[in-house]
Amino acid sequence: MKNNLSKIALLMFALILTGFIFIIGCGGGDDPEKGIGPIKEIKLEAAIDNNLVAKGKQIFDLKCVACHKFDEKLVGPPLKDVTKRRKPEWIMNMILNPDQMLKENMIAKNLLAQYLTPMTFQNVTQDDARALLEYFRSMDK
Ligand code: HEC
Repeated sequence: MKNNLSKIALLMFALILTGFIFIIGCGGGDDPEKGIGPIKEIKLEAAIDNNLVAKGKQIFDLKCVACHKFDEKLVGPPLKDVTKRRKPEWIMNMILNPDQMLKENMIAKNLLAQYLTPMTFQNVTQDDARALLEYFRSMDK
C-alpha cells in the first residue's frame, strides 16, 4: 500500500516535470524579434541579388507606396534602415501576416500604438515578400 502511494507520487512528479519542460521549450521557440508567421528562419547571402531587387521594387511601387516612403512617415513608418532595426524574418512575417503580428507581436503592437492605422495584407506570396526584403536591403546599403 505504502509502496503504491510512493509510485503514484513519483509518477505525478514525472508528469509535472515533463509539463514544465514542454512549456519552457515552447516559450523559447517564440522569438519576438523574428515575429509570428510562416518565416521561421532565413539565410541571406552577403551579396545583394539585383534581379530580386528589381522584382521587389516593382511590387513595392504597386502595393506599398500608398502607405510607405523611405525617408519620411506616410500612413506607415519610413522604411529607410528597416533591415538594420528588424530581423529579416520579422520583416517578411510583417508583410505576410500583418493581422496576427499587430495583435500578438510586441514590436508590431508598439508600432500600431504609434501609427494608429493597421497595416493590411497586400496579397503577396512568400516569394514576393522575399523580393521586397531584398529591395529594402539594397536601399539600406
Ligand atoms: C494601408 C497602409 C499600408 C500598406 C498598403 C502597407 N503598409 Fe506597411 N505599415 C503600415 C503601417 C501603418 C505600419 C506600422 C504598423 C501599423 O500601424 O500597422 C506598417 C509597418 C510596416 C513595416 C514595419 C516598419 C518598421 O519600422 O518596423 C514594414 C516592413 C512594412 N510595413 C512593409 C510594407 C510592405 C512591403 C508593404 C507592401 C506589400 C506595405 N507595408 C503596405 C501601413 C501600410
